[in-house]
Formats: sequence, C-alpha cells, structure tokens
Amino acid sequence: MAKEFDRARVTVVDHPLVKHKLSILRDERTGTKQFRDLVRELARLECYEATRDLPVEPVRITTPLCEMDAERIAGRKLAVIPILRAGLGMVDGVLDLIPAARVGHLGMYRDEVTHEPHEYYAKLPEDIGRRVCLVVDPMLATGGSAAAALQYLRGQGARDIRFLCIVAAPEGLDVVLRADPDVRIFACSVDERLNDDAYIVPGLGDAGDRIFGTR
Ligand code: PRP
Ligand code: URA
Repeated sequence: MAKEFDRARVTVVDHPLVKHKLSILRDERTGTKQFRDLVRELARLECYEATRDLPVEPVRITTPLCEMDAERIAGRKLAVIPILRAGLGMVDGVLDLIPAARVGHLGMYRDEVTHEPHEYYAKLPEDIGRRVCLVVDPMLATGGSAAAALQYLRGQGARDIRFLCIVAAPEGLDVVLRADPDVRIFACSVDERLNDDAYIVPGLGDAGDRIFGTR
C-alpha cells in the first residue's frame, strides 16, 4: 500500500491539459527539446494554481470606453527558486506568468548510492523573507533534496514557501511535510512508489538528464 501523507497541504494539479502533457513527458520516446518545452508548460500551469490565493487590491483604470474599478495583485513580491539542475527547466514557465519575480538558486545533487542530498551552491534575493517563494524541482522522490532546500530557506528567513514539482512519490511527500510544517506542495501527479534506486515509479526517469540531454 502507498505511504500516506497529509493531503491537506498537497494540491494535485489534475487539469486535463496537465494530464495530457504529463503523459507525453513520461513517454521514453519524448526527446530533449519536447521534454524541455513540456516541463516549462507544466510549470506555467502549476504556477497559475500555486498563486491562486495571492491577494488583490482595487485600482481605478480607464478603458477606451469609461472609468472602472479593476483589481491588481496587492504588492506581494515573488521569488522563484530552482533546485539545480533540473529545477532550472521550470523557471521560465513561472517567469512567463510573473516576469518581475526574482530568481534565487539552490544547488543540490543526490548521491547516487546513499540518495542523500548534497548542497553545492546557494544565491538568494536578499529580501527573501518578504517574498512568496516558489521553489521548483520536477522530482520529489525520497524528499531529501526538497527537505534540505526548505530547511536552508527557512534558515535564511523565508516564510511563505510553496514547493512546485511535477511528479512526487508518496514517501517523499510524507518526509517533506513532516520536516516543514508550513510548506504547501503542488504536484502534477503523486505516483505509486519509489524503486530500490529511489527512482519514482512509474515516474519519468532522470529529469535533469532528460531536460539537458546528458544521458
Ligand atoms: C533530482 C531531482 C531532485 C532530486 C529528487 O536531482 O531533480 O532534485 O533528484 O530526489 P530526492 O527527493 O530523493 O532528493 P539530482 O540529484 O538527480 O540532480 P540534477 O537535478 O542535477 O540531475
Ligand atoms: N530524480 C529524478 O530525476 N528522477 C527520479 O525518479 C528520482 C530522482
């Protein structure tokens, strides 16, 4: 039976467009260019969902016909923070919708044998505590990388953090949600399980290698 996790803090973005694009993404025949395009498109659709609760404020505008009361986003600044490398593939999808967002970077790789995360780079906007942080990484497997990234960001003062992945494993979701009691997670799919190499099954393989064509 699949591991249980706190579903109240996980949003599965299961729009038909997401399901369709994700099926192509998973297919082993999908090549690098199309894979990269799809990761960007899925990130855009997830970003739309992950920012649904941003507050708006009234603004008076003039259309070509008359004045009217309209609305705009009420001054909340955003940061998109990819976990290197694979998270880079999702950044432009977020920036397509929020072009003024700042971009921070967290370098993290997973040891192939122990599956433990190793941090190798960090550069964040200095006012990270005042920004809504959209942390992006296509894969949440054991949850080790995500939990380490969140711990680092909390230590730097980040408060409102939303983690956007494309495919998650139930085991990893449980780890991350327990490690960080406030994070909200968005995923296009929660898959069945991890295999003995801690790869997500059915998953889509190695996201970084498929985005950058390195294997
Ligand atoms: C992948 C993926 C996540 C991590 C998930 O990155 O992009 O960052 O593994 O696994 P976890 O939940 O078990 O920690 P990887 O370490 O392969 O590095 P890459 O992005 O440079 O390919
Ligand atoms: N990293 C990936 O890229 N894919 C997995 O299935 C697990 C970790």
